[in-house]
Amino acid sequence: MQQLQQAIIERGSVLSDEVLKVDQFLNHQIDTNLMINIGKEFVNRFQDCKITKVLTIESSGIAPSFMAANELGVPLVFARKKKSLTVADHVYSSGVYSYTKQEMNNITVSKSYLSSDDHVLIIDDFLARGNAALGLIDVVKEAGATAAGVGIVIEKSFQDGRMKLEEEGFRVESLARIQSLEGSKVTFLEELAT
Ligand code: G4P
Ligand code: NA
Ligand code: NA
Repeated sequence: MQQLQQAIIERGSVLSDEVLKVDQFLNHQIDTNLMINIGKEFVNRFQDCKITKVLTIESSGIAPSFMAANELGVPLVFARKKKSLTVADHVYSSGVYSYTKQEMNNITVSKSYLSSDDHVLIIDDFLARGNAALGLIDVVKEAGATAAGVGIVIEKSFQDGRMKLEEEGFRVESLARIQSLEGSKVTFLEELAT
């Protein structure tokens, strides 16, 4: 997706060989026009899938998912990471380890908002090692629902997240695929046509 690749190059910054900072348009300040177009692109890619619900994880997954859900005309549900006051009986949950933050999060979704009838599109801002997406898939399975696929804004293709998801049989659609961040330079797997 050209507008996204341009935003990454012009407004992102490479923090290390492994970490890309995109606070300027995705993780802190949000470029709403870009989010609208990201939503449309997810819909293009999953339009044949009869999605009934979009599922993401707070907080940075919400903006790109919101636009996709709106375009699809289905509800958006976000998994919570913080402990809530809700009793465990009333939620689906999964343990998600964050390498970036070196901490374990218990993600939860209320049983009221996912059911066995749902055909779920999972969306997240980043795909690194795949733990967040696999946790969301766990939650979908626990609900007896089906996962139609995983939509990712920025995939770090040099990490193994996509491989893990594909091994489990899931379709992954990433709008930008980063081959390398080495030498403080972003190299995409599929370079922009010029
Ligand atoms: P994984 O889910 O794919 O296994 O990745 P990991 O544990 O490494 O990621 C943990 C958090 O860091 C996630 O956000 C993920 O989106 C984010 N992340 C991973 N790699 C990068 C990167 O290169 N750049 C940026 N900006 N973020 C990255 P989170 O903890 O869920 O936080 P948030 O959604 O509240 O922002
Ligand atoms: Na995230
Ligand atoms: Na994040």
